[in-house]
Amino acid sequence: MKILMASSEAHPYAKTGGLADMVSALSLALAKEGHEVRIVIPRYYDIDRGVLSLLEGAMGVPMGGGEEWCAVYTAPLPGSGKKHPVRVYFIDHEQFFGREGIYGNPWDPDFLDNPRRFAFFSRSVFQLCRKTGWFPDILHSHDWPAAMVNVYLKFWERPLGGEFAAASSVLTIHNLGYQGIYGKDNYGYAGLGWDVFYNAGFEDWDKMNLLKAGLYSADKLNTVSPHYAEETKTQAQGFHLDGVLRYRSADYSGILNGIDTTVWNPAKDPYIPQKYNAAAVREGKARAKEALQREFGLPQDADTPLIGMVTRLTSQKGVGELFGPAHGSAWSICQDMKLQLVLLGSGESWCEHEVQGLSSRLPNFKCRIGYQEDLSHLVEAGSDFFLMPSLYEPCGLNQMYSQAYGALPIVRNTGGLADTVENYNQETGEGTGFMFDELNPQAIYNTVGWAVWAWYNRREQIEVMRQRGMKKDFSWEKSAKKYVALYESCRAGRP
Ligand code: ADP
Ligand code: GLC
Repeated sequence: MKILMASSEAHPYAKTGGLADMVSALSLALAKEGHEVRIVIPRYYDIDRGVLSLLEGAMGVPMGGGEEWCAVYTAPLPGSGKKHPVRVYFIDHEQFFGREGIYGNPWDPDFLDNPRRFAFFSRSVFQLCRKTGWFPDILHSHDWPAAMVNVYLKFWERPLGGEFAAASSVLTIHNLGYQGIYGKDNYGYAGLGWDVFYNAGFEDWDKMNLLKAGLYSADKLNTVSPHYAEETKTQAQGFHLDGVLRYRSADYSGILNGIDTTVWNPAKDPYIPQKYNAAAVREGKARAKEALQREFGLPQDADTPLIGMVTRLTSQKGVGELFGPAHGSAWSICQDMKLQLVLLGSGESWCEHEVQGLSSRLPNFKCRIGYQEDLSHLVEAGSDFFLMPSLYEPCGLNQMYSQAYGALPIVRNTGGLADTVENYNQETGEGTGFMFDELNPQAIYNTVGWAVWAWYNRREQIEVMRQRGMKKDFSWEKSAKKYVALYESCRAGRP
């Protein structure tokens, strides 16, 4: 099959979170299965044009009543090789993407012209196919920034009966909490009539909701874990789109993300002091723990359990319950328990300030504010436990990375965390991590306490759990096959 991934992020070119990892890793896995896969993302300011090749000639994209002009660059996806090549295309439009930030920046977290930037991007996907003379069987779009691809296919391209008449569309939800809701004064720019505004489901309390329109228009929908697929159909976790997802439930499923084992593998990782695997874990992890303690300025101590975190600092990740001033449990955890805690993260400024304040007052808590790919690998390798108390988690990659690196996850029993972590049973020693149900400061405190207790009192069980986690198969192969089946199911019935 010919598959075109349309996304706002793709590792290593543009990344704010797991979306980028997923798009590139799935593309590689599909290419290995023998499919022809291409990715299209915007050319953001940070992506150096010098490492890309320019396609000849400018590209026109009909928008509003007129036309926008842009350039197109291309490069191979790193890791894809000659045998299973995956090509990435970059849409280069100076006014929309020639600025710092993907969706916004610290001063302007959600650019005012985002609906126009991403409407343009979604429309440009079709022009790119025309320009390159390559027409996909499947247009696979990701999250709200690319959701309008589905609308353009259904309400513009398919009715024309041209090159896209037989194409099908899939929309993957990576996070229902972000929908792209903007004033409907932006709608004219999309160049679709007002009938489409209502028929495609853009309308949302008199505003324009890009994800919602995608959910109505795509042939098939999915999200990134089976558990989250069920949760999003409930009022509690549906972010007011649960009704739409129930309405489309025959076409809506959950497919668990895998991890890219060429990037996230302690036996091959260039960012850790000594490579290791399940058969020889002790020394490799001990070296990584020393290096991590040194990096964060913590006392060198092999016996104290080290808990790591790598996260966006937003309420989705449970940081309110952990670090909230006065009520968050991090202070008591670090005061009452003999452990070390390190955090690598960036996000909401209240939280950045709070964790910096805490780390100056607590000798056993250190943080690094910022985004640092190499250090995130060292945190996974050097930690004994990995804390992820998410409010909700569509899939979550870090808890899989941590199991692969022999750090036991401490997580809330929700979404993809529930699908990828097995809770510890202290009677039998079963499990690969520690889980709690309700998200509140006390529950985080108790569960971290439980893990620390096991560290000091059931060390043999901890070592066995570590082994079990490291031997789990989180590779993409299984899930890539499920995507192929999904693609095939939406092609059934197409000419
Ligand atoms: P989400 O996409 O919701 O943030 P995931 O667990 O799916 O959650 O993916 C997060 C990805 O982003 C992981 O690859 C993680 O290592 C990375 N990440 C998050 N914050 C940072 C950071 N501050 N520095 C480096 N990597 C980070
Ligand atoms: C989103 C979700 C995360 C998921 C990632 C990749 O960012 O928050 O849970 O792992 O997308 O699908």
